[in-house]
Amino acid sequence: MDQSIVLEGLTRRYGDVLAVDRVSATIRPGRVTGFLGPNGAGKTTVLRMLLGLVEPTAGRALIGGRAYHEIADPLTVVGAALEATGFHPGRTARAHLSVLAPAARVGAARVGEVLETVGLTDAADRRVGGFSLGMKQRLSLAAALLGDPQMLVLDEPANGLDPEGMAWLRTFLRVFAGSGRTVLVSSHVLSEVEQTVDDVLLISRGRVVFAGELHELGPQGPGATLVRTPDPDALLVALLGAGLDAHRQPDRPDQLVVRGADAARVGAIAHGASVVVTDLRPKEHSLESVFLQLVTDGGAGVGGGRA
Ligand SMILES: Nc1ncnc2c1ncn2[C@@H]1O[C@H](COP(=O)(O)OP(=O)(O)OP(=O)(O)O)[C@@H](O)[C@H]1O
Ligand SMILES: [Mg+2]
Repeated sequence: MDQSIVLEGLTRRYGDVLAVDRVSATIRPGRVTGFLGPNGAGKTTVLRMLLGLVEPTAGRALIGGRAYHEIADPLTVVGAALEATGFHPGRTARAHLSVLAPAARVGAARVGEVLETVGLTDAADRRVGGFSLGMKQRLSLAAALLGDPQMLVLDEPANGLDPEGMAWLRTFLRVFAGSGRTVLVSSHVLSEVEQTVDDVLLISRGRVVFAGELHELGPQGPGATLVRTPDPDALLVALLGAGLDAHRQPDRPDQLVVRGADAARVGAIAHGASVVVTDLRPKEHSLESVFLQLVTDGGAGVGGGRA
């Protein structure tokens, strides 16, 4: 079976609000796809349309070639966790999963298995009303896993997880995708999923602003170089004299940032000017700053997109 998720011109309007505007994308199997965008971008609305919970105004979403409602045993095909809500507070975690088990065509043994998988075995017989947000997230994931699905669709699963929970989720999703299955996971914070995702689908104000591999989501062309010296004035003069875009770091007077030149070029200029250099390295580009630029200006000036 085809294990891709395909969005075709997916659109949803709420009155005057165009929540989702012609979103087209292919989510590939064997990879973790991060579905990113700021608050209100339309992520949850897309996922709800994908799972047949909201009717598109236009376009369609296909799971393995079919709309969600056309899938005979959906829980064995796609596991979904949209929000860590909707739990009956008086039920235990085990009881919650046991209610869902028949729809996933599984029994008590599988309930025990998924509780173990998400690390809730010790809390299995406690009431969900007393669970922390992180525990509810784990329970939502356990529910999504019941039918041993080929695809996982998770809306902000990292919300409320502690660092250990985040590390665990990261590993879990990588292993799940590593077995050839499909993972679509949303987040409004790029740094949260940066170490987890292979592909990125980034939306802003309902529209796709970037779709591609994570490594393509970066500033194009030569990056910036960071250089430290006991004589920043002399180095600044030399760099500007060579026609480079060099700046002092306001918070670090001994440090300069040189745009559009690699470390070798900066080092050669410093040497030519007989300026001592105490540190010289490529300036790490912040993915978060690229993310912010994309969502605020719709991607102008940043390459790599194939939306
Ligand atoms: N049922 C609804 N009725 C009216 N407007 C809605 C409804 N659902 C979503 N919207 C609007 O659609 C837009 C997208 O909302 P959505 O919840 O999909 O964003 P999101 O990317 O999931 O945001 P967040 O990161 O905060 O979860 C918002 O402007 C929101 O107010
Ligand atoms: Mg949302």
